[in-house]
Amino acid sequence: MKITVIGAGNVGATAALRIAEKQLAKEVVLIDIVEGIPQGKALDMYESGAVALFDTCVIGSNDYKDSADSDIILITAGLARKPGMTREDLLNKNAAIIRDVTIQVMKYSRNPIIIMVSNPLDVMTYVARKTSGLPKERVIGMAGVLDAARFRSFIAEALNVSMQDINAFVLGGHGDSMVPVVKYTNVAGIPLTELLPQDKIDAIVERTRNGGIEIVNLLKTGSAFYAPAASAVEMIEAIVKDRKRILPCTTALEGQYGIDNVYCGVPVKLGKNGVEQILEINLSPSELEALQKSAAEVKENCNSLAALLA
Ligand code: LAC
Repeated sequence: MKITVIGAGNVGATAALRIAEKQLAKEVVLIDIVEGIPQGKALDMYESGAVALFDTCVIGSNDYKDSADSDIILITAGLARKPGMTREDLLNKNAAIIRDVTIQVMKYSRNPIIIMVSNPLDVMTYVARKTSGLPKERVIGMAGVLDAARFRSFIAEALNVSMQDINAFVLGGHGDSMVPVVKYTNVAGIPLTELLPQDKIDAIVERTRNGGIEIVNLLKTGSAFYAPAASAVEMIEAIVKDRKRILPCTTALEGQYGIDNVYCGVPVKLGKNGVEQILEINLSPSELEALQKSAAEVKENCNSLAALLA
């Protein structure tokens, strides 16, 4: 197993280290355009293996040749948000970057699984799919796992219970229109609505929607990276170990949920082939409407990139 991480910034470097520590690959390659940074970070990580006890080989490079024959490519390249910016403000600049990155990685890997982390997430996943020509199940976006992690952590805090016992789904696009689905959120099987009053649930849903900007406003110089990296690595682990995990991920919908030809976050089964199944769960009319509205926003942004992707 060889995993390449594109972008040696905070998300990329944190994800590479987690992959190495979990020994999910024999080789992790960290690629960035800045000279010295991927090499320095990779060497530092590799040396940590003697103490943290992993044997994964971590290599840093500025050359996409070193990504040759990767099984999985995690794309974290591009600009991150600063205070006052929406994820959509990054649209045009990051679309051009992700297009270039995808062209480069596809020169050296024939049939990788691409996991997208760059924002605006759903649109960038579409850009990578369209540019790579890979089958839809092999280009997947990381957003729902992160948004659900935030939702779960806030619920754990409110109830003073283990995060491990909380199941939650956040669907839709990775933006203000995301859809935390309360109906399928439970604590060790007990519906959330039996454990928290509605006003508390509403406040947690709102905080989840704003989870990304809450971190941006604190950091001021960039956006979140520990939870995004951990979320991407959870998806990678499901694929590497063929675990058939059911996770909310951004995938290409073709009629499911009444949504056609758009990348959007829904529950999927993740295994060695990438997205092995899309689960269509029953949503309330208002949740379905919110999901469709979120997908329509993603589609509009994708359409605005027609010239770039032609
Ligand atoms: C976030 C950014 C990375 O949600 O989209 O933190």
